[in-house]
Amino acid sequence: MTMNEIERALRELRLSGIADTLSTRLMQAQSAQQPFLETFAAMLQDELDRRRSRLTERRFKHSKLDERPTLADFDWRFNPKLPRAACFELHTLKFIADGANALIIGKPGTGKSHVAKAVAY
Ligand SMILES: Nc1ncnc2c1ncn2[C@@H]1O[C@H](COP(=O)(O)OP(=O)(O)O)[C@@H](O)[C@H]1O
Ligand SMILES: [Mg+2]
Repeated sequence: MTMNEIERALRELRLSGIADTLSTRLMQAQSAQQPFLETFAAMLQDELDRRRSRLTERRFKHSKLDERPTLADFDWRFNPKLPRAACFELHTLKFIADGANALIIGKPGTGKSHVAKAVAY
């Protein structure tokens, strides 16, 4: 197979994660004289990475969340009364595995939806 044919075959097999990095992986393997299995494993990882990130992207779109807040870049000064440890506990999503409900209670405008979005994301 020529390089073009290989690329077409990869797309037909829906392996575009491999197709996209093929030339880079090829150069890498040649210049470092990499063992075949190492190159093959890296290519499989490329496909897995791409699928995972596309899945995350699809789920984000499906969620209808309008932004991607995370607790890491959270402004804790916004509401100093927020129970920080409880927010991080919620963020571990342990309550889902436990089959428990999570209630976020507070006055309007105190950041409940903000925390919920971070947990959801
Ligand atoms: N930690 C925060 N950092 C920055 N902005 C925040 C934060 N918490 C809330 N806000 C903003 O303040 C406003 C009110 O927060 P919101 O989460 O909607 O409150 P609630 O759901 O409790 O009524 C929103 O515009 C939100 O983006
Ligand atoms: Mg709200």
